[in-house]
Order: sequence, then structure tokens, then C-alpha cells
Amino acid sequence: MAVGDIYRAVHARSLKDPEGFWAEQAQAIDWGKRWDKVLDSSRAPFYRWFAGGKLNACHNALDRHVEGAPGSNRADQTALIYDSPVTGTKKSFTYRELRDRVAKLAGAIASQGVAKGDRVIIYMPMIPEAVMAMLACARLGAVHSVVFGGFAAKELASRIDDCQPKLILTASCGIEPARVVHYKPMIDQAVEMARHKVSKVVVFQRPQAEATMIEGRDVDWNEAVAAATPHGCVSVQATDPLYILYTSGTTGFPKGVVRDTGGYCVALQWTMKNLYGVKPGEVYWCASDIGWVVGHSYIVYGPLIYGATTILYEGKPVGTPDAGAFWRVISEHKAVALFTAPTAFRAIKREDPEGKLLKKYDLSSFRTLFLAGERGDPPTVQWAQKLLGVPVVDHWWQTETGWSICGNFVGLEPMPIKPGSTSVPAPGWHLDVLDENGHPMKPGEVGALAGKLPLPPGTFPTLWNADERFKQAYLTEFPGYYKTGDAGFIDQEGYVSVMTRVDDVINVAGHRLSTGQIEEVLGAHNDVAECAVIGVADELKGQVPLGFLVLKSGVNRPHEEIRNEVVQMVRDRIGPVAFFKSALVVQRLPKTRSGKILRGTIQKMADNQPWTMPATIEDPVVLDEIEGGLKSAGYAAKT
Ligand code: COA
Ligand code: AMP
Repeated sequence: MAVGDIYRAVHARSLKDPEGFWAEQAQAIDWGKRWDKVLDSSRAPFYRWFAGGKLNACHNALDRHVEGAPGSNRADQTALIYDSPVTGTKKSFTYRELRDRVAKLAGAIASQGVAKGDRVIIYMPMIPEAVMAMLACARLGAVHSVVFGGFAAKELASRIDDCQPKLILTASCGIEPARVVHYKPMIDQAVEMARHKVSKVVVFQRPQAEATMIEGRDVDWNEAVAAATPHGCVSVQATDPLYILYTSGTTGFPKGVVRDTGGYCVALQWTMKNLYGVKPGEVYWCASDIGWVVGHSYIVYGPLIYGATTILYEGKPVGTPDAGAFWRVISEHKAVALFTAPTAFRAIKREDPEGKLLKKYDLSSFRTLFLAGERGDPPTVQWAQKLLGVPVVDHWWQTETGWSICGNFVGLEPMPIKPGSTSVPAPGWHLDVLDENGHPMKPGEVGALAGKLPLPPGTFPTLWNADERFKQAYLTEFPGYYKTGDAGFIDQEGYVSVMTRVDDVINVAGHRLSTGQIEEVLGAHNDVAECAVIGVADELKGQVPLGFLVLKSGVNRPHEEIRNEVVQMVRDRIGPVAFFKSALVVQRLPKTRSGKILRGTIQKMADNQPWTMPATIEDPVVLDEIEGGLKSAGYAAKT
């Protein structure tokens, strides 16, 4: 047999006989009621996996590992390790302890009136209570929506209005290396701003900052849990939503990606073995944040459903305390795999280019490094590979897909790694590269990456309360396909390289942001007549946003003042995560004759890439002015 044959056989089968393939994988999940149909296509393009089946995700993640005869269960195995260099805390919870804590918390949440199908927003830092909160919602059949702590009150308010939660779960603060982030005032502001009225907020008080409680609305977490009786798992339909996770779209308004329950559990279970190559009982570490899809799938649900031990890390790759932090965590907890973003490795490389700190630690347990969230640039991939001496697997992900679209399935069969490529499509993914007319392109040609419908289990069935937007945004441009929004190519050997987004989404330190959304904030400044935002290449973060401001005529305030104001506005309205730090004031923006701003051309200029004068440009002189502005601000230096 040749290398790749095992993978190819599995992949081919998943496309030829998707129902047979996924029904087989579904045996590894506990079902309350077996499905009636593996794939229900009756409402295509709204496909449903495991229709008629009933289960509970929390039962699969916790209870089933605790139950069972002594000696054959995982009750006393560590389920969760909390490692927090920012607070100097380490704690671990066995499966039994975690199940018991989650059952009590579920009881507390239920006593606030939350029942199956109700939405609950979770705005919490990386503490065990946040994981418990997600699982407690799942236990009740309630739909959680986690909001990343780096988003500001306005973003929270828009999510409150969209998913209309019955309850918010929060903590008094998050801890960034340089500051304490007070969550509660942001919650208060967001609740005030939102049209949908939230009547209850449960607050976990952390010792680093005590939150002021609002009488009649706020409930103390510990008191609520102490008074609660443990709640059992509520069976839900496989097609019922487990969570909603908002992600940047092409407009200012985020998209509520819906995740169903059954297909997701099945897909995650499969990946833990076959993609990540982990065995139940081993320690798996995903150094992301529970606010992102990667955190949902591989800090919380994947490892626990599979019976592995998961690490919850409240810290950074550098500065907590140094660039050896990741090596310490791996060696101390004997992690076999680490999943992080390339930006984290670029940060480590910048601080410790020779990897000297690695020598202090024993990484003999460590087998594979997984990267995702942004393109794994070959220099970083190669640096990591050389330093660690283990395979470095770049795999391609989206919030929408819930798990990886492409990867190197090392648990199934390791295949050669090509730095810069995300290897091969996951089971169920039939990927094509399409030209602008929707025709498949030749190997090596760059075009729009699209997946043939139906997509595999675990991918999003729709957007929350927005079936039409789901169709418009993803399914209309290329009929019969899911448009990923990414461009790239597939080589002769079927390896997929993801190069760039085709829309206005940019990727800042592995975080997905919409330039359109930032433009909406800049455009709201009193002195700004017009604006544009692009992502410029950044050595550490991959990309960072850069704004261009055209001021209203007659405005003659110092540009520096206006710049500082818009920077603050983005921080206040979107949040620090947007990392919006710079804007240039320009006389005009380059546009086509039909009025479209030539963002792509400005971006190429700023990144020092070759660019051509667009034939449709309204006035070529404007581009010269922009180039001059970029050069004097230190961009486009070598052009
Ligand atoms: N709550 C509140 N604020 C947060 C936050 C949170 N959970 N996470 C980040 N922020 C803030 C930071 O404090 C920073 O604010 P500042 O402008 O006041 O300094 C800002 O948001 C930007 O944060 P970040 O992008 O994390 O930059 P950084 O300089 O603090 O750290 C890295 C850089 C590379 C170390 C960091 O981005 C990182 O670890 N990235 C990996 C991302 C990842 O794993 N993504 C998941 C995809 S797999
Ligand atoms: P998110 O929805 O936040 O997970 O971001 C998804 C986007 O990040 C994708 O559409 C890609 O643009 C980018 N991305 C994620 N993983 C990779 C990868 N391995 N290579 C290239 N781009 C990636």
C-alpha cells in the first residue's frame, strides 16, 4: 500500500456513502433514541444529520464517562486541568467532580427559569466555571452563546438582541497580563443598550475584582449553586441547536452560526482519534479561548466527549511569564498534542528565536503540534518543526464548519507535510476551486474554495433566525456549493492551500474581524466624511487593520486628535480584540468609476506587493497620493 491510501479510501467512502460512513462513526456516541434518518435532505439546502435521533451533549461529555462499572469508567480520571499563570492557580477536576459541579450549576440555571431551547449568553474568562457554564446549558438543552471577553459592550448588546437570552452568565473580571478586564460594567452597559430585556445575570466573583451587583437582577454564582439541586441531562433532538456562536460577516452585523447537537458530537469524536491522534485518557491541549469555535470544539466538547483530559490555559504564549510557557504546560501535564494559532508561535519565536527555553523542559510525551486560525506561514511551520522535532499540522477551520475542513489525519495515517498547505480534505468534504463563473479550475490555479453540498455532520445547518441570510451569504454564488469565503488552490496530489479571504474579513492574531464593521465605527465619527479599512501584513499578528480617513470639508482639527478618537471609538464599540491602532488621513479614496473603493489595491501597496493600475479607476492620481501617505507612515517602504 502506498502512503495516503488509507486516507484516500476513508475519504472516498465518506463521499460515496456518507450515510453509511457517518452512521458507523455515530456508534461511538450515546444516543437516547437512535436516528430515523442519517441525512435528511427533504429541506435541502437545509440538510439535517441524524434526524429523529435524541441525545444530550453533556451526557456524552461527562455522565457516560462517570457511569459504568468500577474499573471500566473514567469517574476518577482527570477531565479538566485549569492552569492559570496570570493568577498563579492550578486545579484539576475528575470526570466525577466535573459532572457533579455541572449538574449543580445546571440546577442553579434551571432555577432562574431556563429550560430546553432557551438561550443563555456566557461572557466569561478562561476559568473552569466558564466550561461548566457551557456544559450546564447543554445539560438542560439550553442553547449557549459564548461571547469572547475582548469584545466591547456594543457587540454584546447586538448579540443579546439577536439571540434574546433568558439569562447571562458572567464573571467579575478577566485577567490580561497588563490589566484586569472588568466584565461586569460591560454587561451592565450591554444590558442597558439592548432592546431585548434580560432579567437575570449570574455573576461569578473573582478575587481580583469584586463586581457591584444590581439588586433584583444580579445573582451571586456561588449562592445560586449552593442552593441548587443537581439537574439531570435533558434529551434533545440531534438536530436541536447546542450553541450559537457569532462571527464576523461582510456587514457590521455578526452572523449567528448555529451548531446542532448530534452531528457535532459524532464529528468531534471522530476527529479526536483520527485527526489529532489522541487516545482516551491522554492529555490534549488546545490553547485557544472558549470564545472561539476552536475553544468550543477542542477545549470543551471534543476532548471530553472522547474521554481525554483537556487543559484550560489562562495565559499567553509569551509574557506569562516568558516564551517557555507553552513548553512548561506541555511538560507539566504531559500533553500529547497542542493546538494553537501560528501567531502564538511567531510570538514565541520573536522572544526566543533559538528556542533556548525549551531545553528546560521534558517534552517526551508530546507528539504533534496543530496550527489553525490563519495561514500557517512556511517559516513559522518550519521553525516549529525543527525546534520540536514533531509533525506540525496546519489545518483549515472556520466557525461555520465547527471542525477542520482540511488537515493531515495523523491518527488515521500520517501523510507528508507540505509547509504552506493545510493538507487534504476531511471526510465528507468535496472541495473544488472555482473561477468567478463557478467553473472548477485546474490543479495549482488560485480561485474560490467551495465545498459541495451536503457538508458533513458538525458543520452549521443555518444562521440563527436567518435562513435567508444563510442562503444568500454562502449558497447562492456557487449553486450546489458552500462558498467558504477563502481563496486558494489544490495541487496535483490533492493538497489544499488556503491563501486569503475573498471578502472583507481579515485575520488579526488568529482572530477574525470584519473591516466593514470597523468602517462603520470610523464612519460614525463627526469629522469623517468617508473611510476605508484594510488589513496590512504584520510580522506577529499576520494582519492588523489600518484605516484611511477622508475628513469633512472645513474640518481643521489636528489629525492626531481625530486619529486618537477613532482608535478609541473602535476599542469602545468593537473591543480591544480589533487591535485597531492606526489610521491615515487622506484627501481622497481611490475608487472605480462605479464608486467602489479599491481596497485590494491599497492593501497590495501597503504590503509592498506588486500591483497594477485597475482599468476601471476613476482617477489614477488618487493612488499616487495614497502611496505617498503610506510611505510617509512607514508602509509600502520598498515600492
Ligand atoms: N478579554 C479582554 N481583552 C482581551 C482578551 C480577553 N479575553 N484577549 C485579548 N484581549 C485584548 C488584549 O489585552 C489586547 O489589548 P491591548 O490592545 O490593550 O493590549 C487586545 O485584546 C489584543 O489582544 P491579542 O490579539 O491577544 O494581542 P496580544 O498582544 O495580547 O497577544 C498573541 C498576542 C499572539 C500572544 C495572542 O494574540 C495569541 O495568543 N493569539 C492566539 C490566538 C488564538 O489562539 N486564536 C484561536 C484560533 S486557533
Ligand atoms: P474563524 O471563523 O474565526 O475560525 O476564522 C476562519 C478563517 O480563518 C478562515 O476562513 C480562514 O480565512 C482563516 N483560517 C483558519 N484556519 C486557516 C488555515 N489553517 N490556513 C489559512 N487560513 C485559515
